[in-house]
Amino acid sequence: MGHIGSTIVHVETVDSTNAFARQLLRENEVEEGLVIHAGYQTAGKGQGDHQWNSEPGMNLLLSVLLFPTFLPAEDQFRLNKAITLGVLDFLQDFTGDAVIKWPNDIRTNGKKIAGILIQHTVAGDRLTESIAGIGINVNQTSFPSSLPDAISLQQILGYSLDIPEALKRLCLSLDARYSLLRTGHAEALDTAYRDNLLDLFTERSFQSGDQIVTGAIQGVDDVGRLLVRHPGNKLVAYLHGEIQL
Ligand code: BTN
Repeated sequence: MGHIGSTIVHVETVDSTNAFARQLLRENEVEEGLVIHAGYQTAGKGQGDHQWNSEPGMNLLLSVLLFPTFLPAEDQFRLNKAITLGVLDFLQDFTGDAVIKWPNDIRTNGKKIAGILIQHTVAGDRLTESIAGIGINVNQTSFPSSLPDAISLQQILGYSLDIPEALKRLCLSLDARYSLLRTGHAEALDTAYRDNLLDLFTERSFQSGDQIVTGAIQGVDDVGRLLVRHPGNKLVAYLHGEIQL
């Protein structure tokens, strides 16, 4: 297979790099590790029914095509860990306090700097294709008031980055983490993922449904549910959407 980013397809404007990647997969023979990189998305997709908004040419907007056929479908969260850690490594080179907000946002300086949207295809009990969509705020210096929680590297560093250069560095970080997964070093990913979780082992409150609960994050279980230890030593595993951080 090629490395992540050995081929990069640049599109100036696209609806969503994830949608474009899916179409490419259907219509062409594509090599694993292919990256679709866009300058601007007219319909960037976030988690759930959220949008991903980014000014033209300012940020990193990409999708990576992977064929993780070596992974049983039930282990798909391991791929999320590898991709999230790849993005985290890239960002930690610039800003030491970047952390993972479960399941796969990256936050720094108390705000969100990157989001990840991974779409898996499963056949039988195996993963066949994964489209890992990544948005990283790089050079954008202001965000609309509808996004009070967003921050960019430029806002932290005080200087802008060359986007093609940053993309190459990101691809190297992603490839290093994906290679660990492919070569059977998933435990190293499990440990690194847990150790970089926001608020790990810290007593705090959470919104869960219409309740406020207190507890401390202990990590995630094998399927990626968030493990929280509540008072009375009760360990509860939460699915995405069941608890808000
Ligand atoms: C989130 O935090 O809600 C996930 C955001 C993912 C955004 C990226 S930008 C590139 C790729 N294409 C999309 O349409 N979405 C992802």
